[in-house]
Amino acid sequence: MDEITLTRPDDWHLHVRDGALTQAVAGYSAAVFGRAIIMPNLKPPVTDVAAARAYRDRIRGVIDDASGFEPLMTLYLTDDTTPVTIAEAAACGFIQGIKLYPAGATTNSDAGVTDLARCHDALAAMAEHGLPLLVHGEVTAPDVDVFDREAAFLEERLAPLLERHPSLRVVLEHVTTARATEFVRHGPSRLAATITAHHLLLNRNDMLVGGIRPHHYCLPVLKRERDRAALLEAATSGNPKFFLGTDSAPHPRGAKVADCGCAGVFSAATAMPAYAEAFEAAGALDRLEGFASHFGPDFYGLARNTDSLTLRRHPWSVPNALPAGDDVLVPLRAGEEMAWQTVVGPQAGG
Ligand code: DOR
Ligand code: ZN
Repeated sequence: MDEITLTRPDDWHLHVRDGALTQAVAGYSAAVFGRAIIMPNLKPPVTDVAAARAYRDRIRGVIDDASGFEPLMTLYLTDDTTPVTIAEAAACGFIQGIKLYPAGATTNSDAGVTDLARCHDALAAMAEHGLPLLVHGEVTAPDVDVFDREAAFLEERLAPLLERHPSLRVVLEHVTTARATEFVRHGPSRLAATITAHHLLLNRNDMLVGGIRPHHYCLPVLKRERDRAALLEAATSGNPKFFLGTDSAPHPRGAKVADCGCAGVFSAATAMPAYAEAFEAAGALDRLEGFASHFGPDFYGLARNTDSLTLRRHPWSVPNALPAGDDVLVPLRAGEEMAWQTVVGPQAGG
């Protein structure tokens, strides 16, 4: 198979930042994906409908209208989010989820939730209004090893949360472990998960063997090969609980290659070729469309896209870096050859 045409995919987990960085990155997603769930971890975070509307306008302002790209907005859950804010978010028509960052878990999560008990009323309102909770699933206790933080979250936080709110819809974002795939597979149908391209292609050796690779450092951190294999199995299984979310999280090179480097893989410019590579390695290219284009909108209760995207087998060299104002961004697979490329849009080279 040298060409595949899919229903246009969507990205169910994306960071496009703000200001000049949005200008540098948003076009890569808009050229390929029909819609993307936009993460709210700006500084300050997007915590109410007015801020989400203004952020949506800023994103739209840098995107080519002809792309037809639609940013799907989210709010950032805090200890103080009220049921009124949730009701307003559900009513506004452009907010599709509420994001839970445990305080201190990752980039710009300082304002996140310190104790889920404080969010009981907001979570109940989300269940009432059918607004999904999008979860960064890691505990933050200093005594829990960084490689165990996702697994600990499942038992200690997510299982009780699902029990306390029996109709709340939940997306466990960017799953990284075999344990998480089992948890989601065996969980209720209102529980789903996104999987990134980098977690399908890389394990922790790719970050730590032969030198430290800061551009492969993200959160939740890359895990063992057996975890990567389980994620690939889940993504290619045809189970609609698993769908595409790149978690493309751009940080300028200077912030990644630093004494204390930021977490995040910038994958927006190479995402679909990367997913195609992973699916092809599993002999499952025929399952890519369900994962990339069908299961996400089905879970969110949105219509599937009606346009299409073509991927062609045509080896190309990914640039070492892409421009971003005074700095540069290092994309996933920088300096390497990729077998697949998307036929339209501002491809990063090739
Ligand atoms: O690697 C990550 N980067 N993980 C996250 O959860 C946040 C993201 C970011 O915003 O940089
Ligand atoms: Zn993210």
